[in-house]
Formats: sequence, C-alpha cells, structure tokens
Amino acid sequence: MLSLMHTLESERPPDYLARLAASAVGRAYKSLVVDEMRIERCSTVLDLGCGPGADLEAFAAATGREGRVIGIDSDVDVIAVATGLVGDVAGVEVLVGDVHHLPLADQSVDRVHTDRVLQHVEHPASVVREAARVLRPGGVAVLAEPDWDTLVIDFPDPAVPVAYRRFITERAVRNARIGRQVPDLCERQGLRATRVLPVTSVYRDAVEADQVFGFQRVTSRAVEAGYLSVPDGTAWLRHLRTERFFASVSLFVTLAEKPDS
Ligand SMILES: C[S@@+](CC[C@H](N)C(=O)[O-])C[C@H]1O[C@@H](n2cnc3c(N)ncnc32)[C@H](O)[C@@H]1O
Repeated sequence: MLSLMHTLESERPPDYLARLAASAVGRAYKSLVVDEMRIERCSTVLDLGCGPGADLEAFAAATGREGRVIGIDSDVDVIAVATGLVGDVAGVEVLVGDVHHLPLADQSVDRVHTDRVLQHVEHPASVVREAARVLRPGGVAVLAEPDWDTLVIDFPDPAVPVAYRRFITERAVRNARIGRQVPDLCERQGLRATRVLPVTSVYRDAVEADQVFGFQRVTSRAVEAGYLSVPDGTAWLRHLRTERFFASVSLFVTLAEKPDS
C-alpha cells in the first residue's frame, strides 16, 4: 500500500499519472469531460499534454474508431507508456512535441483537449493560440485546468493549510490559477467560451489524495521556502497520516468553440 512517506511526486510521472487517472476521482471527472466533448464519428481529436495516454482510448471509441486521435507530450517517458497503451489502436498516434508549437496544419482538428496541462506550460496564451489555429471552424476546445486557490484541507490550526496552499500557488505550480483564466485566454484567441463546468473533488482518503498532492515532498519544500515552520510541517504531515482526512480542490472545464466565420 502506498504511504504518505513515499509520495507519488517522487515516483516516475507515468506511474502516478496513470494511477490518478484510474482512481475514483480521476475516472469520474474524465468521463464527464469525454461526454461534454461531444466527439463525432470519424472526427479528429487532439490531446495536448496527453501524458501516459489515459484519455486516448476513450477518444478513439467516441470517434467510432473511424477517426484520428493525436496525443502530444514533451516527456519521452510518458509518450513511451502511451505508445504501449494505445500504439496498436487504429487511428491513434502519439508524438513527442511541445504544445507551444504544434506540428499540425491550420484548421485540421475537430476537438482539442487538455487535462491539467496549461498549469505547467511556460506560456499558456501561446498554447491556446495554437489550439485555436489548428481547430476547424465549428470545432471545440475542452480545457480542464485546476485552480489551486480552491484547495482546502482540514487541520486544527487553519493558518497551516492556508500557508501550504500559498506555497503551492506562489512557488510550486507555475500557473496555479489557470482554471479561472482559461475562458479569457480562449476569448482573446477568437474562441467563444460557451460554458465553464466546475469539477470539485473531495478526498476523504489521505493515500488517494496523496496521488494528487504529494504531501511529503511539497511540505518539505514549503518548510525549506519558509512558508511553514519545522514544527508546523511535522504536525501537518503527522495529522494527514493519522487523523480523519478531508481535502478538496476544484478544476474548471472550459468549453470554447471556434466560430464558423
Ligand atoms: C498533469 S500531467 C497530465 C497528463 C494527462 N493529460 C492526464 O490527464 O493524465 C501534465 C502533462 O503535460 C505535459 N506537458 C507539460 N508541458 C508541456 C509542453 N510544453 N508540451 C507538451 N507537453 C507538456 C507533461 O509532460 C505532462 O505529461
């Protein structure tokens, strides 16, 4: 069994990403997102930052296995895992690449998808511009991105989780508030952000939550950076390991259409 002392952030990314996708929380919101994408038969779907390929098989099924599904990620290790997973699924291809510069023609895809990718990229506006460029008129971008200011964790002294969250939003995640910014980024690139769906995940199991949060490593870094004192950091980790657990975080799923003309 996983332990909070062996946090998943210290594991190879493909392992923890695949396990997160397979968790109850991961499955629930990913299936909601696939439904909301309204993928049509024979269409082309592009997954930006596809990771180990958790969504590619579902996209292929939604095209009736008669379309094209392209996954792109800059990490060769996760692309190797994705290739093992879907390499022989008809119509699916996975590529190593940078989502700031897509190797695709203008107006060549029907759906663009991201899941927790824009939070990490150097320049989210450029990635959304690329998404808008490759979308066909009438196509839709479906961008699921977290907003780490929504992170709440129960602890007797509420100042400690606030400091932990501040470390995440100010130091740990490059674009920690991207969830709330995606509709504006889309509109600036000529897309029409038609809907934003809030997806709030509640974790009552610390081990499951650790798959997302990587408590041990993040807490150590928060202590090193002066956001938490050593006694607070120690008490925090002990509490998460031993007491009843409650944590919640939201991501926002933005649906943005490329107008027909
Ligand atoms: C949190 S993971 C999500 C992976 C996948 N979407 C999923 O739901 O399992 C973020 C992914 O974005 C990829 N990524 C980050 N910056 C990238 C970039 N500039 N170009 C391509 N991929 C990038 C990472 O390598 C990582 O696989």
